[in-house]
Amino acid sequence: MSSKLIIIGAGGHGKVVADIALKMNRWESVSFLDDNEMAKPFSGVEVVGEIKDSAKYKHEADFFVAIGNNSRRAQILEDLFRQEYSVAKLIHPSCILGLDVTIEVGTVIMAGVVVNSSTRVGKGCILNTHCNVDHDNIIEDYVHISPGVNLAGTVFVGRSSWIGVGSSISNGVKINCDCIIGAGAVVINDLIESGTYVGVPAKKIG
Ligand SMILES: CC(C)(COP(=O)(O)OP(=O)(O)OC[C@H]1O[C@@H](n2cnc3c(N)ncnc32)[C@H](O)[C@@H]1OP(=O)(O)O)[C@@H](O)C(=O)NCCC(=O)NCCS
Repeated sequence: MSSKLIIIGAGGHGKVVADIALKMNRWESVSFLDDNEMAKPFSGVEVVGEIKDSAKYKHEADFFVAIGNNSRRAQILEDLFRQEYSVAKLIHPSCILGLDVTIEVGTVIMAGVVVNSSTRVGKGCILNTHCNVDHDNIIEDYVHISPGVNLAGTVFVGRSSWIGVGSSISNGVKINCDCIIGAGAVVINDLIESGTYVGVPAKKIG
């Protein structure tokens, strides 16, 4: 483990990620890399370069990718994994993890999240503020579960799917890869086709 953490992405999501990293008290220094020249420091976390500058820090820092877009986050993380960077996972001190839960690297678990027994969370996922992921769920790589989402027990969420804010997924439901679930949706049946689903009960719109 390194004494430095480099966070790629200094936007709104990056700030929340930096806040968690600081609260974990695990790194002596935390910095951002961002390609946007308007990117600003946040609470003492400075922007020290662009993404292409990652190589400078490869041997002295852990890395985390704080980009909300699932495919962009996956692309950058896959590059880091291929080049054998050390990629961290970030877990807010207030979250509750049940027994036999596994969380892979590149994933952030935000404030107030509950992940219950025997759930598996893949690489590069976002479990956003105050979501509940109950027992025996399988959350594949690069999934984003937005704030206030409720996943009942034994839910499967396929790679790169995005579950919108405040939605609910009933027990045993399987959601295919690359699905978008709209804000406030209620999913009661398996979503077999990739696409966008909204409403109560959720129906495919695209
Ligand atoms: C589902 C979503 C991605 C669709 O966005 P979009 O592709 O830009 O779709 P549009 O806004 O053009 O809406 C298309 C239709 O779906 C409806 N719709 C969109 N989102 C909806 C929702 N959450 N619930 C019900 N209906 C919805 C619109 O009213 C519109 O209906 P119409 O064709 O009858 O007018 C978006 O509305 C959404 O819910 N995003 C989630 C946001 C979120 O969770 N943010 C958290 C960030 S941490």
